[in-house]
Amino acid sequence: MFDPFDAARSRDAWDILRELRTEGPVATIAGGLRYVTRHAEARGVLRDTATFSNASGMKAPGVDIPLEDRLLGELDPPRHTAVRRVMVTAMTPKVVHAAEPFVTSTAEALLQSLPPDRFDLVASYTGVLPNRVTMYLLGFDPADSDQLARWAKELMESAFPALNRTERGVGFAAAFPEFAGYIDARIAERTAQLDAGENRDDVLARLVRLEVDDGPLPPEQLRALVRNLITGGLTTTTQLLGNLLFEIITRPDVERAIRADRALLGTAIEESLRLTPPVLFLARGCVRDTEIAGCPVQKGERVLIGAASANRDERVFELADEFQIDRANADQHLTFGYGTHVCPGATLARAVARIGVNAVLDHFGEGDLTLEPGFVFEQVPTYFEHGPRRLPVVRADA
Ligand code: HEM
Repeated sequence: MFDPFDAARSRDAWDILRELRTEGPVATIAGGLRYVTRHAEARGVLRDTATFSNASGMKAPGVDIPLEDRLLGELDPPRHTAVRRVMVTAMTPKVVHAAEPFVTSTAEALLQSLPPDRFDLVASYTGVLPNRVTMYLLGFDPADSDQLARWAKELMESAFPALNRTERGVGFAAAFPEFAGYIDARIAERTAQLDAGENRDDVLARLVRLEVDDGPLPPEQLRALVRNLITGGLTTTTQLLGNLLFEIITRPDVERAIRADRALLGTAIEESLRLTPPVLFLARGCVRDTEIAGCPVQKGERVLIGAASANRDERVFELADEFQIDRANADQHLTFGYGTHVCPGATLARAVARIGVNAVLDHFGEGDLTLEPGFVFEQVPTYFEHGPRRLPVVRADA
């Protein structure tokens, strides 16, 4: 039976998902969970925050988290509305736009420093660039980048996203004390700088300054938001870059089309997000008896919204399994979610993907990069993500 929590089996499940989608809009899968297979119903569930709650979100049943320690995806309105306002006010499209020159120069510098003939694009590029960008936006010391990336990756690949604990303890601060301590120290530092009248306008300074309802965010909530920015954008954007570069390297027709008209890169990014979504599904807890397209769902049941399946819904996308560089409705995918919780980092992720891939196309000639002979696509070990663990490439003239 389909088990999306089994990292080994949740990957490349396109055929199973097609079968489930054909059978109906809601499937009962491993553990008795409900899995929403089709696009319209998935959007309906994501819209209905009164019935389908995030508070139980991605967590296993019975896992409860103190309000202040919750990520945005673990909050429901009205608290969610207030805290999210802080996040989107701190990281506006203008803030992202202002960071673009940094993204470009960092991408170019990473490519310049690659070994001449063979290298792993994930270890040296797709896995590095998004983190450097987050560090820059938050105003953190670039020298700490690799350490922070290690902490974030360790967290994403652990049982913490589902259980809110590791063998070291319960809750973020106990489960990852060094990571939490690092964030707390940066918040204290920035607060002191602002109190001393220093002119700082990075995303951390904006978060510290902003107020929710009756005052500034409590320190734990601020720490959760910073963690949200670090973990929310790091591996996801890495997977997007990796999936898209894999497509370009293995599909000469796609590479040629984008090189001939760089504007097509925008659609290629959407097609990559649609067909190989970095986030495969979202989770909600049903808080009152209801039905989805006639299928009864009871209070207390967990509902998974299958973006990976909805993105290939034949009712919305013609020849849904095909990567079409000129697909008119490619951006109707649900990879960034939909409605109240829709990803506030989407503008940033798209910008990093566009700049990151353009830099690769500028740095290498057409057909210059090929995957190492015998390469087998190996997935990242995070159960809800899709992306290559490694992309070992060889330069054509090597
Ligand atoms: C390709 C890259 C990305 C993908 C596929 C992605 C996917 C998603 C999805 C599906 C959600 C909605 C979750 C839900 O409804 O339960 C979400 C929310 C979120 N994302 Fe992203 N994300 C990406 C990049 C980023 C980046 C770069 C950041 C930050 C800089 C970020 C920060 C967040 C935050 C804070 C939320 C919570 C929003 C809320 O619950 O209101 N994401 N993301």
